[in-house]
Amino acid sequence: MAGKPLIMVPGPTNVPDRVLRAMLKPMISHRSEEFRRLYDGIRENIRYLFQTDGEVFVLTASGTGGVECMVNNTVNPGDRVIVPVFGLFSERLREKINLRGGEAVEIQLRYGTAPTVDHVEEALERAGRVDAIAIVYNETSTGVTVRDLPEIGRLAEERDILLLVDAVSIMGGDELPVDEWNIDLCVTGSQKCLACPPGLSLISVSPRAWEKIENTRSRPFYSDLIRMREFAMRRETPFTPAIPLFYALDEALKMIREEGLENRFRRHRVCAEAFYRALEALGLEAFPDREVRSNTVIAVKTPEDVRNSEVRRIMKERYGVVIAGGTGSFRESIFRIGCMGAISELEVLKTVEALEGALSEVGYPLKIGSGVESVRRFLHLDQ
Ligand SMILES: Cc1ncc(COP(=O)(O)O)c(C=O)c1O
Repeated sequence: MAGKPLIMVPGPTNVPDRVLRAMLKPMISHRSEEFRRLYDGIRENIRYLFQTDGEVFVLTASGTGGVECMVNNTVNPGDRVIVPVFGLFSERLREKINLRGGEAVEIQLRYGTAPTVDHVEEALERAGRVDAIAIVYNETSTGVTVRDLPEIGRLAEERDILLLVDAVSIMGGDELPVDEWNIDLCVTGSQKCLACPPGLSLISVSPRAWEKIENTRSRPFYSDLIRMREFAMRRETPFTPAIPLFYALDEALKMIREEGLENRFRRHRVCAEAFYRALEALGLEAFPDREVRSNTVIAVKTPEDVRNSEVRRIMKERYGVVIAGGTGSFRESIFRIGCMGAISELEVLKTVEALEGALSEVGYPLKIGSGVESVRRFLHLDQ
């Protein structure tokens, strides 16, 4: 397959040329006025994106590094942290808390469902002393969004408990007003809904979280938020940042600002709905329960007698469209499509067309064109 493939996995995503080109600028010193101006602009636009007046930082690390930074700066050995587990990334969050010496108080849920405020409230009643609640807002492994996050935030504030949120696969693609929802630490990655290359984590910290951070024993070195705050006062990062990625992030954030958050969320929502309708038209079933389906990760069950990896191979080789399978034990039983960042009707149509073609080729009974037709009808592309 010649030409540029369409990357429709749940991150990394397709990166606009404008963002890619930004990385070609000459190197600068990270202790120079040019860098300080760059970091100022980035931090201002992160505050806009996160809808926060709190402190924000950029860490040269993938999403995992950002989530680990959040945990290692706030969880002390012996701390009890409520963590709903409903997929791979919430399993990892639990593991990070336990490795840190904290005690993860687990809410175990069926994969494909999301924790509700009632689940969290029950866990709080049961658990006795609790120091924090840690939640994956969008479980990328199952295509589930925690729609009760605002209520959970209210509960955390009422009980004066810290709320830590992994928003790696959703920030910039769906509603997430960090201050309004009382989120104390929030982390995202550059390579998902921001339409930027991988390699950076963005982190926000609420004013009330600092007291806890200042009292955290055995501070991390590379990802110490106190050190990051000290350096941010000088408009710098503690260590050498990935400067080309900072150029890319600066451009990606400018594009977000130009589009406006509401328009961006609507675009993701409309494209997600077009995907869900097309999949339904093809007789496929979404993996998550309807009310918690994600607008940024579309997870769908592999139909019986179809080999997931074979469908994906055909999509890639014949159509140049790359989607993901499931994670872990779900590898063959789920397809996952990223509906993130630079997503538009064009990407939706190409992906649905490729999926239809590949499914038909492996013998799955469908009417060729029915998925594409459903997208066209929903998006009014025929008028
Ligand atoms: C919800 C969530 N958290 C954390 C991560 C880890 O991010 P990274 O692979 O950039 O380290 C991912 C990556 O897909 C994710 O989706």
